[in-house]
Amino acid sequence: MKSDFPLFPEQASTVAGSVDTLYITLVVVTGAVSLLIWIAVFYFAIKYRRRPDNELAQEIEPPMALELAWTIIPGIIFIGIFVWGAWVFFRIQRPPDNALEVYATGRQWMWKFQHATGQREINTLHVPVNRPVKITMASEDVVHSLWFPSFRVKRDVLPSRYATMWFQATKTGQFHIFCAEYCGTEHSKMIGSVIVMDPREYQQWLAGGPEGSLASQGERVFQKFACNTCHTGDATARGPVLAGLYGKQVMLTSGNVVVADENYIRESILNPQAKIASGFQAIMPTFQGQVSEEDLLKLLAYLKSLTPPQPQSRPLAPESPASLIQSRGARATSPATASPVNQGNQP
Ligand code: CUA
Repeated sequence: MKSDFPLFPEQASTVAGSVDTLYITLVVVTGAVSLLIWIAVFYFAIKYRRRPDNELAQEIEPPMALELAWTIIPGIIFIGIFVWGAWVFFRIQRPPDNALEVYATGRQWMWKFQHATGQREINTLHVPVNRPVKITMASEDVVHSLWFPSFRVKRDVLPSRYATMWFQATKTGQFHIFCAEYCGTEHSKMIGSVIVMDPREYQQWLAGGPEGSLASQGERVFQKFACNTCHTGDATARGPVLAGLYGKQVMLTSGNVVVADENYIRESILNPQAKIASGFQAIMPTFQGQVSEEDLLKLLAYLKSLTPPQPQSRPLAPESPASLIQSRGARATSPATASPVNQGNQP
């Protein structure tokens, strides 16, 4: 039932129930223990008050069994709460692999959202119901915090690196978006709504976008900054091959190995000297201050869309429609970078 002053926001995601159960249990357990302690404090203060004035207190060693009991029982309760909390935390923390990707940028004082299909929104986010949605986000200025109260998820949005969060909405409708980190005078106005749609309506909404997919916008950014002069997609070029890079392990000249995740790619664009891939010269200029947060997200989407070179001796498996679309998409969007890579596929 909805009231005008609800104690909790509506539960509208797959994790909302488990977050609330954990929270309410913590409140009940700590409340009950506090109450017991207060009752005992008052009761003993009155019962054992000093009388007559010159009476001296007697020291008593508590029995071993009692000492053990008051150590072990709370120990079990605390460890139990930790294990339960960690279980809920991991569920909230790990996005499922099949999540829909959405990109968010926070700035004083608005939320900007970008969809992989190219739509852009300000202070409004459209998502489908019953499907995991992963948000990759960064800030253009100060620390913000993206909060979906009805989904029970919240994450800091930082100016220097990507953070991710995910949720799966379970109800259609409109829910609040808040900024949960004090970020300046209009912090309280940094709000918006998430609109959870039925999958069919969501598809219709997606079909209304005019600007081309985020990956193809990223390809234009890639060309605008002339990235393709060095990252030609050829293994002998001055820059590493980028197709298939995302998520792979990269050997560095320092001998370390890193995973090419969102933050590695971001750092390699803004501060290329930080981690040089093994076998390459430190010749790439920095793009700090030239590439906007939004363009960085487009570049990221573009790099993710490039399909990796596939070994020909791969065991024959029926190709899934998704991988067909992906490889076609990469070929269509990127003649410069993807074609030398994809030649391996040609009969
Ligand atoms: Cu952004 Cu508070």
